[in-house]
Amino acid sequence: MSNRKLIIAGNWKMNKTPAEASSFIKELKPLIKRSRNEVVCAVPFVDIQTSITAARGSRIKIAAQNMHFEEKGAYTGEVSGQMLKSMGVTYVIIGHSERREYFAETNRTVNKKVIAAYKCGLKPIICVGESLAQREAGLTAEHIRYQVKAALVGVTADQVKKAVIAYEPIWAIGTGRTATAEQAQEVCHIIRMTIKELYSKRVSSVVRIQYGGSVKADNAHELFSMEDIDGGLVGGASLKLSEFAAITAG
Ligand code: 13P
Repeated sequence: MSNRKLIIAGNWKMNKTPAEASSFIKELKPLIKRSRNEVVCAVPFVDIQTSITAARGSRIKIAAQNMHFEEKGAYTGEVSGQMLKSMGVTYVIIGHSERREYFAETNRTVNKKVIAAYKCGLKPIICVGESLAQREAGLTAEHIRYQVKAALVGVTADQVKKAVIAYEPIWAIGTGRTATAEQAQEVCHIIRMTIKELYSKRVSSVVRIQYGGSVKADNAHELFSMEDIDGGLVGGASLKLSEFAAITAG
């Protein structure tokens, strides 16, 4: 077992109004009291304020699901890292496959956002993952290594230590088809070895790597017990109080 602290993050995606976010977090607080893990809720932008207020006095940290890479300017509809940081946001998800697929996010914009996040003191949760076609063609390792390297261009060793990398195979997201613990471990190990190659063994032993894709209370703990898996990025199951609380337990 490593001594990395597990990080369990709920990615709410486009769900919950500010009022719903507030009551969910207030109800979650007592349920996670005994968890030794880091608990994060990645909420929609409009829910950030009420979520931060609701989370006060608990260990729940609030994340954003995206940010723009520029500091400010004429970018209608966008939100900067500085804005998020000033509200009390801790983490920001960058490069989720839904953003890559539906909003033209590329390895280049992911890298620019990662750099911008560090600049304003946010910790990135960087998402990588292969499609089913890539997996079936035997391209998983190559694709993941490429995505990790591209996301980390220009990132220093001290910065990368604060990063979280989320391995989310696209074929497992929202499908109910979870990667087996062995499949997930294999790719998370590849991610750690890529970081070792880019930085050092010491740095690679500090970076936390999550698995995401149909994580549920009944499969989470097997996944999180694997050597290179340091928690999860949870979609659907993070919207249900008892389910998410059970995933964060431990
Ligand atoms: P599901 O847990 O709903 O499969 O979503 C995973 C995900 O995309 C988390 O970011």
